[in-house]
Amino acid sequence: MTVLALVATACGDDSDDETADEASTQEPAATAPSAEEPSDDASAPATEPDSSDDETTAEDSSPQVSGTVEVFSWWTSGGEAAALDALFATLTAIQPNIEIVNAAIAGGGGSSARAVLQTRLGGGDPPDTWQTHHGAEILGQYAAAGFTTGLDALYREQGWYELIPAGLIEALSHNGDPQMVLAGVHRGNGFWYNKTLLDGQGVSVGDTLSVDQFLSIAADLDAAGIDALCVGDNGIWASAELFENTLVGVIGPQAYLGLWDGSTSFESPEVKNAISIYSQFLDYQNDDHVALSWDQAVSKVIDGSCAFNSMGDWAFGEFLNANLEEGVDFGWVSHPGSHGAFVAVTDGFTLAVGAPNPDATIEWLKAIGSLEGQTAFNQLKGSICARTDCDRGDFGRYHNWAMDSFGSAVIVPTVVHGSAAPAAFQQALNDAITVFVVSRDVDALASELAAAARASGFGG
Ligand code: GAL
Repeated sequence: MTVLALVATACGDDSDDETADEASTQEPAATAPSAEEPSDDASAPATEPDSSDDETTAEDSSPQVSGTVEVFSWWTSGGEAAALDALFATLTAIQPNIEIVNAAIAGGGGSSARAVLQTRLGGGDPPDTWQTHHGAEILGQYAAAGFTTGLDALYREQGWYELIPAGLIEALSHNGDPQMVLAGVHRGNGFWYNKTLLDGQGVSVGDTLSVDQFLSIAADLDAAGIDALCVGDNGIWASAELFENTLVGVIGPQAYLGLWDGSTSFESPEVKNAISIYSQFLDYQNDDHVALSWDQAVSKVIDGSCAFNSMGDWAFGEFLNANLEEGVDFGWVSHPGSHGAFVAVTDGFTLAVGAPNPDATIEWLKAIGSLEGQTAFNQLKGSICARTDCDRGDFGRYHNWAMDSFGSAVIVPTVVHGSAAPAAFQQALNDAITVFVVSRDVDALASELAAAARASGFGG
């Protein structure tokens, strides 16, 4: 099981805005590993001799390539599509003769796309490149099955071993060979709110929010006839994400990490307490949640028809896409109780074994791994760069807050986005949550998760 190690990220000064200091005010995580020196990793091959020319763009060094590249993803919401377009524009600026085929399939979290992909891979009809996550997903589902091509040579050529934290690279490497190129790193445990609505109710959210504080606010909003939580779980993963974030927030990042090595039981009192609190959260969600997608739930925050939304920071892209101003029209805080954790949801792309257009695909991978590509993409997507040389000045308040959190919080993996546990467990979680939102049976959910953990080879 690969669990992402804590790694430091982008350079620059600490942000000084008032909402940005949550991470720095949290207890220094005694258990958090210290920042790694990326190049100290013995497994990291040496990079090319340093040209000392960080300004060199891929365009300067790339011979022109033609052909098509089929890019498979699930980035179809307003914010996601805008960010994907920024990657396409980066590639086109470098390689104008490459035709891009956008094979995106709607359904947040890849709820529809991943099944289609599996069918194509199994049938020997891979897209040239597909979106995936670090950990169990890339390693267990794709690399171990022989669907992905090792990218060590490209990492060396592009100098990525020196530019991307070693912990991240390790979490996407099979036998020491990287299997994907990262575009960015999302923080999954975001809690987004309509600031105007809350101001109107006399509610102000501080740098952190505890479970009790949220439940008290939610009760007040409920009394005023306002839904506290906006949820869109026509893809059940969105409610599973609400649960995952609540689990991290209630049991804390260290106990949460223990779920994946069996040292924390899914049937422990602390997990059952987290499930009970999740059930209380569900009491405050909008009645039409099953009819909505995750981004439609964010739209309800945007238009003020409910107050908060628990979601990874791809939600930021939706606020941006709707021309809302960060810290003015909308605000953010960590999901209740989870301020000491950074739930890492990485986004990267592969090179398929048997890719129809390997040369064009390599150019695509160079583009998304480039400074230009990552800067343009992450500004719109809400994630932070995987590269450590992105300029903090190119990003606003939220991004700087997330960078601080990445550098100081305990980084934990997500089940909902494929990294913490095998696909079978991820599916079992989704199935159990589908039942739970109706049954509210705490013991049943705990024992189903415990059984699924045992079936997947971890957990007691
Ligand atoms: C995640 C992905 C994010 C975002 C989200 C919602 O799995 O890593 O980039 O797209 O799904 O669709």
